[in-house]
Amino acid sequence: MDAIPTKDDAAREVERLKAEIRDCDHAYYVFDRPRVSDPEYDRMMRRLETLEKAYPELAVPDSPTQRVAGTPSEKFGKFEHSAQLLSLANAYSTAELAEFEDRIVKEFGRAPDYVCEPKLDGLSIALYYRDGKLDRGVTRGDGFVGEDVTPNVRTIRSVPLTLRRPVNLAVRGEIVISREEFARINRELASAGEESFANPRNAGAGAVRQLDPRITASRRLSFYAYSVMDFEAHGLASESAALDFLTEVGFVVPPFCRKVADLPCAIACIEELDRQREELPFEIDGVVLKVDAMAMQRTLGATSKSPRWAVAFKYPAEEKETVVLEVEFSVGRTGVITPVAILAPVHIAGTTVSRASVHNLELATELGLGIGDRVVVRKAGEIIPEIVRVVGPEPGVERRPLIAPAECPGCKAPLVKREGQVALRCVNPSCETQFIRRLRHFVGRDALDMDGFGPAVLEGLAQLGLVRHYADLYALVEADFLKLPQTKEKLARKLHAAVAARRKVPLARFLYALGIEGVGDFAANLLAECFGSLEALLVADFETLRGIHQIGDVTARAIVDFLARPEAQEELCRLREAGLEVFVEKTRTRGDRLAGKTLVVTGTLASMSRKQAEDSIRAQGGTPSGSVSKKTAFVVAGAEAGSKAARARELGIPLLDEKQFLELLAGGAVPGSVMKND
Ligand code: IVH
Repeated sequence: MDAIPTKDDAAREVERLKAEIRDCDHAYYVFDRPRVSDPEYDRMMRRLETLEKAYPELAVPDSPTQRVAGTPSEKFGKFEHSAQLLSLANAYSTAELAEFEDRIVKEFGRAPDYVCEPKLDGLSIALYYRDGKLDRGVTRGDGFVGEDVTPNVRTIRSVPLTLRRPVNLAVRGEIVISREEFARINRELASAGEESFANPRNAGAGAVRQLDPRITASRRLSFYAYSVMDFEAHGLASESAALDFLTEVGFVVPPFCRKVADLPCAIACIEELDRQREELPFEIDGVVLKVDAMAMQRTLGATSKSPRWAVAFKYPAEEKETVVLEVEFSVGRTGVITPVAILAPVHIAGTTVSRASVHNLELATELGLGIGDRVVVRKAGEIIPEIVRVVGPEPGVERRPLIAPAECPGCKAPLVKREGQVALRCVNPSCETQFIRRLRHFVGRDALDMDGFGPAVLEGLAQLGLVRHYADLYALVEADFLKLPQTKEKLARKLHAAVAARRKVPLARFLYALGIEGVGDFAANLLAECFGSLEALLVADFETLRGIHQIGDVTARAIVDFLARPEAQEELCRLREAGLEVFVEKTRTRGDRLAGKTLVVTGTLASMSRKQAEDSIRAQGGTPSGSVSKKTAFVVAGAEAGSKAARARELGIPLLDEKQFLELLAGGAVPGSVMKND
């Protein structure tokens, strides 16, 4: 465990971790795209928890440790769950399982019976039935509000549309995709020149979150039910009874669910499942241990995020040894050079791995990596394999040290190191390899999302000299695509249509597509929300940008510098001339519920910072203000509200407590009756 730094250093580290975790959450929950592996994510969370424990004053309400992660995306209708869908705490060792049990023993004076279930690695869903008919299927979302994906869920064969009994029922379970189906979808995507999915979970989530249910139907998904949310209404006294009940009324429950009498039996179960895991048709990432008796569950209760009566034992990321045959260097879209190790192929967690990222040259030096070395490779969270450590030179293989390249592997320009930075970069503004990388990002799924523009197509277009700037994409005619190898009329037509379909682009996607340092999808959405138009953003200065909550100095500076660059301005001009229109999507969070009203926020709110509260007021067309006057419509009074609340009482201005304020923002009626004054 890393040492605890001084308070100032801890505060900085906490800020950095929070920003990183937030971006990861956003990518994961809203876009189904993991940015980091699960163990890396858990490491960041644990570090944050440690720092917040050491300095409790740093654990402010906006910390990811204080809430269930994830914001629902805007595409589907929102649906409020009948009860919060909790998450699970993780355990990584039997010692941690013993700690979990100790807490239960402390409460009851004895150890409980457990149910062991595989932890399915898919998309968490709640199904609501009325009179035995499927009424709604809703994603977990942030645990309180999810996306209504009913039409898509209905396409899944293992979701019963009618139950065997005419009951009202709320069920929780997981939508998963089999390894076989995952491979089939990726083959199809690859042959259509599209980006493939990183893992089955993402492929499954991607399929459920399709606006067109026909696409969902074309991907064979499975649903496994594992809990009855309204168990009391069905007289269920234990988890094992709930699993039986689920089977009786028509659900498929996960294979391997077992009731066990004690922790050693549970651990034996975990080990047994680990041995059989590779043979299961779908991926699992651990075993969920649940206290069987509902009465005990009720006594144990839950924290804000997870029940105290269940824990997820996570299997360690699979590691294998292999030999580094070569190290290649690649140039990314920002010019940074990354080493990529070419490996003797090795089978890890269901796929063959022959390349691994080394992240950066410094890390390669730290690891002491040389060509010809035997290394341990980990496929963490099933994303990009990485080299964990060097075992030593492989006998009989000639070992060569890794030498940092002097020139760009693409354009051969000399590489430079920026002051204070470790990364080697190609700074040639006309480096073609870099441009192709930028182009890939520009047309990628989270950016302009041009269907069919895979790496081969983009490289081909650049090499033919047909695309030198983003805007050139819009000038392409069908005949241009026919110049690409293996491109017949049907594909040419499809590619041409894909560009045409992206003449109007939401501002957030466009900002993300530009690839500004620090502007991931989270910041891009935030900027779109705050500025409302590209023009407004273009004239914003550093001070305005850094004034936005959650945009730090570094990102603010990067945005200003990027937009001031003549090349960027020329590019924007060209895109405008090419007919690209950037518009702002009307989102649920931008509304007019507070139009024309001035609100004052005072005291401390538990669920958000002052700045966040004020941003939410603005997002609803209202004006936040620092002082109470006769013109003030409402005063939002948090804990320890002082003179401003008193002044509001004097002037007879309605005071709202936090709950009423949240209701107001969420679209509830403007409260007529207000918080009691004392
Ligand atoms: S029970 C209150 N059982 O794991 C307990 N969850 O890390 C709620 N998951 O969001 C969850 N398999 O999507 C439960 N057999 C299982 C599960 C399972 C997978 C998922 C679930 C949850 C996540 C938490």
